[in-house]
Amino acid sequence: VGSWEMTTQANPSMAVLKEAADYLRTRDTPVGFPTETVYGLGADATRSGSVKGIYAAKRRPQDNPLIVHVSDLDMLRDLLRPSSSSPAPNGTTTPNGHSDVIPEIYKPLISRFWPGPLTILLPNPSPSPLAPEVTAGLPTFGARMPSSPLALSLIKLTGRPLAAPSANASTRPSATTASDVLEDMEGRIEMILDGGSCQVGVESTVVDGLCDPPVVLRPGGVSLEDIRACAGWDGVEKAYKDHSEQGKSAPRAPGMKYKHYSPRARVVLYEATYGAGQGRISEEDVDVIRDMTGQVDSVSEKRTKTIGLVRTRHWGQGAGLKCGEFRSIAASEAEADLDVHEADLYDSQGSVSVGTVLDLSIGHDARSVAQGLFAALRELDRRKPDLIFVEGIPDKDDIAAAVMNRLRKAASEIRS
Ligand code: TXA
Ligand code: MG
Repeated sequence: VGSWEMTTQANPSMAVLKEAADYLRTRDTPVGFPTETVYGLGADATRSGSVKGIYAAKRRPQDNPLIVHVSDLDMLRDLLRPSSSSPAPNGTTTPNGHSDVIPEIYKPLISRFWPGPLTILLPNPSPSPLAPEVTAGLPTFGARMPSSPLALSLIKLTGRPLAAPSANASTRPSATTASDVLEDMEGRIEMILDGGSCQVGVESTVVDGLCDPPVVLRPGGVSLEDIRACAGWDGVEKAYKDHSEQGKSAPRAPGMKYKHYSPRARVVLYEATYGAGQGRISEEDVDVIRDMTGQVDSVSEKRTKTIGLVRTRHWGQGAGLKCGEFRSIAASEAEADLDVHEADLYDSQGSVSVGTVLDLSIGHDARSVAQGLFAALRELDRRKPDLIFVEGIPDKDDIAAAVMNRLRKAASEIRS
């Protein structure tokens, strides 16, 4: 790419994985790689130069700590012992007589959810084997064992824990395909391993079991209800804002939020109307669209607008946002995995076209919505809409919590 040499490898072979592992051990530019949640921007977590390369490529503030990815529990144990000590120092003693440095509270979670989309906070020993840039000065570090076979192989071949944030540019939606990584990182990194689309689609759940009661810091691929079912975790609390604190008030002013997961277009999130038989965007909501598209009285006043619409419920074509505003004009036009339908946007009389609707449905259950969410925001954003409407999903203690958490951060406005 320009003077850069970009390697994008589909279904990387063992030779390519070895090349990437060599690169990670010796170079200071991160490598894009798939995990089951989202793509990561990986670097050798034990070398400062390499970890600094992540912050540079992502343009990420240095005070935001990184997750350390391990391929097995012995690699994790090595990170829990001071770097000067021998492999088996004093630790708690397990029934079979072996010392173990992994805190007991995490054992049920590790056996149930690893490898998988769960990140646990652990005490960072002093001196730490990790580069100080990984933890951003905190006394703890986050660790997870990804389930993606490609990610596991890469870590194992590198022989080092890999620090990796999500592989998007800071503030952008996370990347769930190799081409999404390329879109944000072109000219900033030299290698992306292409493992196709990510299965889970939202990031890992981050938990802290070192405090009492234990807390979930970020909802993600492992649900709160599944964590609560583990021994020692029945009293787990949410340390993130969810529907009870957010979204019930008047629409938030654009720019007042912490910018995260955001496409370039403004995002309006609908949290509303989930009762049985409801679920349609109301007349009042349609008025908002009219305001935003500009009420038109004559063809001469016509202001063409493009509106993105992410549907998350199982509505047929033309249902949902309707009330005469939309008339389907085009057959489905499949692009990549996403099926974007183009429709005319009409004025309130239904007679004058004032623009285009880009209508994208990402499924009707929480899992498929999670999987398609970031790709949908990115796909619509590429078509440069004036704004993107997103239909929220009911916020339960399952993966829907992760979806709504991301959407509330991406949205400039929440309507409920
Ligand atoms: O699924 C994932 O977790 C993806 C893939 C690549 O593994 N990674 C990811 O990384 O989402 P990132 O950097 O985008 O988000 C890491 C989150 C941040 O919210 C960060 O603040 C939190 O984990 N985190 C990391 N270390 C922490 C620590 N020591 N204490 C508190 N929060 C921590
Ligand atoms: Mg991220």
